[in-house]
Amino acid sequence: MDKKVSRLLNEQINKELYSAYLYLDMANFYSAKGLDGFANWYEIQAKEEQDHAMLMYRYLHNNSQTVTLEAVAKPDKEFQGLADPLKAAYEHEQYVTGLIGAIYAAAQEVHDYRTVQFLDWFVKEQGEEEKNACDLITKMELFGGDAKGLYMLNSELGARVYSAPSLVL
Ligand code: FEO
Repeated sequence: MDKKVSRLLNEQINKELYSAYLYLDMANFYSAKGLDGFANWYEIQAKEEQDHAMLMYRYLHNNSQTVTLEAVAKPDKEFQGLADPLKAAYEHEQYVTGLIGAIYAAAQEVHDYRTVQFLDWFVKEQGEEEKNACDLITKMELFGGDAKGLYMLNSELGARVYSAPSLVL
C-alpha cells in the first residue's frame, strides 16, 4: 500500500477514537443534566466511532500494514447550553467528512482502488452522520424550547438502539 494512504488511514484510527471520546463527553454532559435520552444517543454515537476505528484497524492489518496507536486527545469542546453539543457534533462530522475525503483523494491519486472501495462505505456513512446531526439541531430548535417538547425529544433519543456497522471486514 502507498505510504501516504497507509499513514492517513493510521491517523484516521486516532481521529475516530477521538470522535468516540468526544461523543462520550457529550453523553457525559447530558447525563449530568438529567437528559438520559440525549446521553443514550451520544453513547451509541461513541460506539459507532469505535467501530469506524476498528474497521480501519482491520483493513490496515488485512493489507499487511503496520498500525501505530497514538495517544487520544482530551475532548476539547466546552458546552454551556443544551444545544451546544448538537452544534459541535454537526461541525465535527463536517470536519470528519473532509478527512475521509482527503484519504479518498490520496487513494485515487495512486490508483489504490481497493482503498477507494473500502472508503466508499465511509463516504456514505458521513452523509448519514451529517444528516442525523443536522436533523437533531432542527428538532431541538423546533421542540426543545419548552419542557414538554424537550421531554418528548429526550424520550425519542432514548429509544435509539445500537446496531453494528453494515460493513464487515
Ligand atoms: Fe466516524 Fe462520525 O464518523
